[in-house]
Amino acid sequence: MIDTARLEATVGALTDPGKGILAADESVPTITRRLQAVGVESTPETRRAWRGLLFGTPGIGEHLAGVILFEETLDQHADDGTPLVELLARQGIVPGIKVDKGTELLPNACPGEKVTRGLDGLAERLAAYREKGARFTKWRDVYLVGPGMPSPLALSANAEVLARYAALAQQAGFVPIVEPEVLMDGDHGIEQCAEATEAVLHAVYHALHRHRVVLELTLLKPNMVLPGKAHPAKVPPEMVAERTLRVLRRAVPAAVPGIFFLSGGQSAEEADANLAAINRLKGNAPWTLSFSFARALQQPAMEAWRGEASNVAEAQRIFLKRCRLTAAARRGEYTPEMEAAA
Ligand code: 13P
Repeated sequence: MIDTARLEATVGALTDPGKGILAADESVPTITRRLQAVGVESTPETRRAWRGLLFGTPGIGEHLAGVILFEETLDQHADDGTPLVELLARQGIVPGIKVDKGTELLPNACPGEKVTRGLDGLAERLAAYREKGARFTKWRDVYLVGPGMPSPLALSANAEVLARYAALAQQAGFVPIVEPEVLMDGDHGIEQCAEATEAVLHAVYHALHRHRVVLELTLLKPNMVLPGKAHPAKVPPEMVAERTLRVLRRAVPAAVPGIFFLSGGQSAEEADANLAAINRLKGNAPWTLSFSFARALQQPAMEAWRGEASNVAEAQRIFLKRCRLTAAARRGEYTPEMEAAA
């Protein structure tokens, strides 16, 4: 039995018209790469300091409805002993949790193609996360674009685990965020990304249907439709928005309440310009079109912080600015001129 009222309340909170989601759920290897890039050693203590800085930023509750956490963070405390989750609750922010266990190579698929793991023992882990206050969950699949990719095997294997995860999460009282990410790695053009994203989303929604997942109680976290990072052409936001909306209209059922884009390695300014264009061009699209960024919200602040206590105030100022501008983009109001004005 699904606790529909609990899940509906969570969906209602996360789809607040003025707000979006911060992804602060980097696994230990991923956050270690990000911290090392700004000269900070990755330890439980520096990860606690970084996430405490983010969650303790006054004012973010005006722009963020939810934050996705990594398991480790659920048990960590701020300097004054306040649980980090409590810092979020004080600002009215709903905590979520990443529940996948990362990716591994998928045998007999194309070279480099991966499948996500984490189903073993998931029901037990979900029960523990619920005790600690989490109300929604995230599971991420990744897909490469290239000759023959994503392969039919990668499409079906990843969709199947994603749907099994979503069904388990709903049973356990969580709104599942379903994240099939078509990666920006490579030199493919925007049309190849569009084709790959459409195939991925079709496979995912077929699998969710097979597993009887209640779409009204799920959220989608997709990539925007973009050229590969190594592709020479720069694409204007209006074109990104047009291609992204076309793919979503073709493949995402209207029953899904919200679509929360990942930033995927775009700069903060690019991600916000593209999100704003999507919201300006959305017409009668049936879903909330919002954000669930990690890098585009955190990166500029992390570069200002560099692990120094004396930089905390400046890093928080920059983080709050990114939250404010990204929430403006989610309403279609962001323009690049706002960067200087802010
Ligand atoms: P980025 O916004 O940095 O792509 O991260 C989003 C995310 O949560 C990936 O799983």
